[in-house]
Amino acid sequence: MSSFTLRRFTPEDLYHVIRINRKCLPENYSESFFMQLYRSYPESFLVAVEDDKIVGYIMCRVEGGFLGTERRGHVISIAVMPDYRRRGIAWALMIEALRAMYDVRSAKTCYLEVRVSNYAAINLYRKLGFKITRRIKGYYLDGEDAYVMERPLPLEEELLRSVEGVYQRP
Ligand code: ACO
Ligand code: ZN
Repeated sequence: MSSFTLRRFTPEDLYHVIRINRKCLPENYSESFFMQLYRSYPESFLVAVEDDKIVGYIMCRVEGGFLGTERRGHVISIAVMPDYRRRGIAWALMIEALRAMYDVRSAKTCYLEVRVSNYAAINLYRKLGFKITRRIKGYYLDGEDAYVMERPLPLEEELLRSVEGVYQRP
């Protein structure tokens, strides 16, 4: 077993998650935005806990599904604190959130946007089977382009097995 565990976000975690978001990413959100995602999609708003602290989070939304359109999972934001990186925490957060969006919401695909310069994140998503589907010019406030990356759901057994016994499931 690894030294981290995953669990669902709870409202008492709000300020910790906001702190991690501000430290790790230029894309920041209002308190009400975090809470709205928690209230609407609690199964895919997860935190990673280690040393009795929250060290990472992922939050998602499931879009579509009206009038027979396909449900699409959308990873809104993921981050892991610098001292806790390269130990599989983001991998675990992604696997559990993608699993939940399929199991709980029947999402048939999942997508996200990522800065074209964000090599670490792009590499993580590629390893999870995401493919670049398009590039959005000037998507970010500072003018940088985004790649949209997407993969079908559910995850393959091999990916699900990669986290078996690694941590306590949320
Ligand atoms: N360089 C190259 N590949 C990397 C890197 C890196 N720095 N970090 C992760 N990867 C790839 C590797 O393939 C890695 O497997 P390996 O360690 O066996 O080689 C795999 O991803 C899994 O890595 P994890 O250890 O699970 O990733 P980590 O917990 O370190 O978190 C993250 C990765 C979330 C991108 C982290 O670096 C971070 O918080 N960065 C700042 C915030 C950020 O960029 N978030 C994503 C924005 S896009 C969005 O939110 C939709
Ligand atoms: Zn997005």
